[in-house]
Amino acid sequence: MNAPILVTGGTGTLGRLVTPLLRDAGHPVRVLSRHGGQPGNGVEHVTADLSTGEGIERAVRGAEIILHLAGGAKGDTEASANLVRAARQAGVRHLVYISVIGADRVPLGWFRSKLGAERAVTDSGLPWTTLRAAQFHDLAFKTAQQMAKLPVIPIPGGLRFQPVDARDVADRLVALTLGKPAGLVPDLAGPTVYGMADLMRGYLEAQGKRRLMMPLRMPGKAGRAYRAGDNLTLHGDTTGTRTWEAFLAEQNSQTH
Ligand SMILES: NC(=O)c1ccc[n+]([C@@H]2O[C@H](COP(=O)([O-])OP(=O)(O)OC[C@H]3O[C@@H](n4cnc5c(N)ncnc54)[C@H](OP(=O)(O)O)[C@@H]3O)[C@@H](O)[C@H]2O)c1
Repeated sequence: MNAPILVTGGTGTLGRLVTPLLRDAGHPVRVLSRHGGQPGNGVEHVTADLSTGEGIERAVRGAEIILHLAGGAKGDTEASANLVRAARQAGVRHLVYISVIGADRVPLGWFRSKLGAERAVTDSGLPWTTLRAAQFHDLAFKTAQQMAKLPVIPIPGGLRFQPVDARDVADRLVALTLGKPAGLVPDLAGPTVYGMADLMRGYLEAQGKRRLMMPLRMPGKAGRAYRAGDNLTLHGDTTGTRTWEAFLAEQNSQTH
C-alpha cells in the first residue's frame, strides 16, 4: 500500500475538490481538520488542530507528502509552523502549500499571515512547493452576497480582482503534489481582471437584483497597494480557465 498523502484542510472548499482527484490518481488520502469528516472511498479522516498543535504528530505519522490547505482568517503563520515541526520529525519528503497572490506585497493581516506561513514552509528544510492563487470565485460570490444585503453598495475605487475557480486551483495543486518539489511556482489567477463594480454588477445581474453603488476611496497603505495592483498577477503566469460569468451561471442553475 502507498503511503497516504496528508491533506490538511481537506474538508474545506478547496480540499473537497482536491481530495477526490488525488484518490482517483491512485493515492490513499488522509484528511486533517478540526471537525473531521465521513471516511470512505480511500479517504481517511483525522482530527487535529494546527493552531494548538493537538493531534498533529499522529496525523502526520507515515505520510510522505503533505498538501497543506488548512487556513483561516488569521493565525496561518503559527499553524503552519506547528505543522512544519511535526512534518520534519516525520521525515516528510514533499510539503506543498497554497498561498495567496500578493502575500509579499499587500499590507493586510491575512496576506501577512500567509507570507509568514510561506516562510515557515521555505525555512522548514523539507523539499517544498508553494502556489500563490488569486481569490476563489466562491469567496467573491460570498462577499457579493453579503454586500447585496446593503441598500447601497460601497465600491472602493481602483480595487481590481482576478478571481479564479477553485477547480482550476485544485487541478494545479494535484499536478504539483504528484510532481517533484518545485519551490515557488508561477501564480495562478483567473482569466479576467475586474473592477469591484464589474464583479458586483455581474453578480446582481445573474441574481436579477438592482442596487445603487457608491464609489469611495480605500484609505491607507492597503488602499495604495490594491490601487497599484499588488494583489494581481498581470504578467501572464498561469491562468485558470473558468470565468466569473460561467461560475455565476452555474450558481444560478443550481439555485433555480
Ligand atoms: N478562499 C480563497 O479565496 C483563497 C485564495 C487563496 C488562497 N487560499 C487559501 O486556500 C486554503 C483553502 O481555502 P478554503 O477557501 O478552501 O478554506 P475553507 O473552506 O475555509 O477550509 C478551511 C479548511 O481548513 C480546516 N482548518 C481551519 N483551521 C484549522 C486548524 N486550526 N487546524 C486544522 N484544520 C483547520 C477547516 O476544517 P475545520 O474547520 O474542521 O478545522 C477546513 O477543512 C487556505 O489556506 C486559504 O488561505 C484561499
